[in-house]
Amino acid sequence: MTTAERVTEAIEARRELIDGAIPEELPIKRPERLYEASRYLLDAGGKRLRPTMLFLAAESFADVEPLSTPYREFPDADGEPTDVMAAGVSVEIIHLFTLIHDDIMDDDDLRRGVSAVHRKYDTETAILAGDTLYSTAFEILLETGAPAERSVRALDMLASTCTEICEGQALDIDFESRSDVTAGEYDEMIELKTAVLYGASASIPAILLGADDETVGELYRYGLDVGRAFQIQDDLLDLLAASDDMGKQRGSDLIEGKRTLITTHAREQGVDVDALVDPENPTEADIDAAVEALREAGSIDFARERAHELIAQGKGRLDVLPDNEARGLLRDVADYLIEREY
Ligand code: IPE
Ligand code: IPE
Ligand code: MG
Ligand code: MG
Ligand code: MG
Repeated sequence: MTTAERVTEAIEARRELIDGAIPEELPIKRPERLYEASRYLLDAGGKRLRPTMLFLAAESFADVEPLSTPYREFPDADGEPTDVMAAGVSVEIIHLFTLIHDDIMDDDDLRRGVSAVHRKYDTETAILAGDTLYSTAFEILLETGAPAERSVRALDMLASTCTEICEGQALDIDFESRSDVTAGEYDEMIELKTAVLYGASASIPAILLGADDETVGELYRYGLDVGRAFQIQDDLLDLLAASDDMGKQRGSDLIEGKRTLITTHAREQGVDVDALVDPENPTEADIDAAVEALREAGSIDFARERAHELIAQGKGRLDVLPDNEARGLLRDVADYLIEREY
């Protein structure tokens, strides 16, 4: 089996399990429209990368065979059962809350191959659905059965993660009106808007299961490194992948005037990145031409190399875990984050 097949299989298997748990944790109740809107994109798909990372980190830390142990009753360091499935659902629905609000901010119509929530319903409902998911995630994370002190630490991690995501999203929006954004500023912005949730996903299981501080810290840093690489790949796919494959609109970042590592590099090479696409009248041909200009400036390759470096750095953090199959899968997942085509 190739690495790509191994990781795809690992993600698929965990996606099935989490998909079974989502309706249990987030049932549709009154007012139905609110809960239907909250569940709409969960039921539409999604790669489930963050819960997959969370489960694999739990399996590696506990040193169990992958998929051998029920996530609802996962043994902590003292052998006590902990519901890591609840933690997996919690990070996935935090992710979804950020997607629903992100699509409003980015004025995007397409998500996971279907309409964005504010298009399918309306902006009021989308704001409320995001807020409902946000607060429910904390309620769910509170119910893992972990000792109180660990639960509080996990909740603290999730809360500070959400604050940082908002800070990152604020920078992302702020950068649209600036043409002088540096690679360093971009790096800070993607760490906040995207990588911290990967850091939380990788380290929360270790917190809940009673790992020492070094293990928690290295898992968090693994998530930060590979999460930044993941966002660079997302920015590359925004240019390179067909809308049908991605389930979201190609070229959206150029149309919205987003600053990415690719455009930051291109600007330094003398490319007038703001003249590439007319936001009032964006055409596929303009986007194709823009991609060619960015490729010629070496900016696509530059971003790819940076993503590779971050993945290598992140994988190095995993030495803190026991040498087992789940740790190998965490390394494979890191590679997948930048090899994926959607
Ligand atoms: C998209 O995340 C949002 C970013 C942080 C770039 P994913 O690519 O993981 O989205 P889904 O969950 O698979 O839809
Ligand atoms: C999103 O970044 C980061 C979030 C916190 C949701 P993007 O705006 O690039 O994500 P997509 O491309 O819309 O999924
Ligand atoms: Mg977006
Ligand atoms: Mg965005
Ligand atoms: Mg994007």
